[in-house]
Amino acid sequence: MKAEQKVMPDAESLIEAATEQFVASARSAIAKRGVFHVALAGGSTPKGLYQKLATSPYVEQIDWSRVHLFFGDERCVLPTHEDSNFKMAREAMIDHIAIPQENVHRMPTEEGVAPEVAIRYSRTLADTLDGAPLDLVLLGLGPDGHIASLFPDTEALDVTDRMVTSLYVDKFDSWRATMTYPTINAARQVIVFIGGEAKAPIVKDITTNAVEGLPVQRLAPQGEYYWYMDKAAAGQ
Ligand code: 6PG
Repeated sequence: MKAEQKVMPDAESLIEAATEQFVASARSAIAKRGVFHVALAGGSTPKGLYQKLATSPYVEQIDWSRVHLFFGDERCVLPTHEDSNFKMAREAMIDHIAIPQENVHRMPTEEGVAPEVAIRYSRTLADTLDGAPLDLVLLGLGPDGHIASLFPDTEALDVTDRMVTSLYVDKFDSWRATMTYPTINAARQVIVFIGGEAKAPIVKDITTNAVEGLPVQRLAPQGEYYWYMDKAAAGQ
């Protein structure tokens, strides 16, 4: 599935462009349906985006009381653990915006083992979305082509009967819970957010079709699909 690529000159302009896209998506969803359901990405790349969203002039452009935040994936650690995607987003953004606590849906990683976390989060997603798709799914891109916690050569790639699944990731010696392809693909918008020259090799491999079948290449968004990159990641 081809994405519309947006290449910005540098890291700061990439964050600004992605922030503007996020604000526009939120305002459009709230205007049309009164709510904005968005799944946040983990890792390090989106931290600057979350910080920017929590500052003027962007923070006041979104009615946060109409926003529901989800997570595309989570490390199965406590929400206070340094590896927690929720902790990163809370510190960068959630603690600094006027969003009702009940609208922040983190994966309940303290409530059980990974498979149980996945079952509970699937239920949270289904109950909150009530049959609607997510409005926006933000994803980072791993150097091995993974998105969310859909890692290469894992069974998670083939799970289609659940909204969230779990897996043990050997290379990180950690359990993860992740949204599955059906959940991500159904979103009205999918944005893969890629920054820095460390991602240039994987971006080049994918955009020149030197590799195939990587998790990000198996994405098939039914809605709008964008790659937001800086020139360093785009290899320019
Ligand atoms: C995670 C993320 C993961 C991340 C990529 C890119 O839990 O780590 O969901 O998919 O987006 O690994 O990570 P960086 O942004 O740190 O390069």
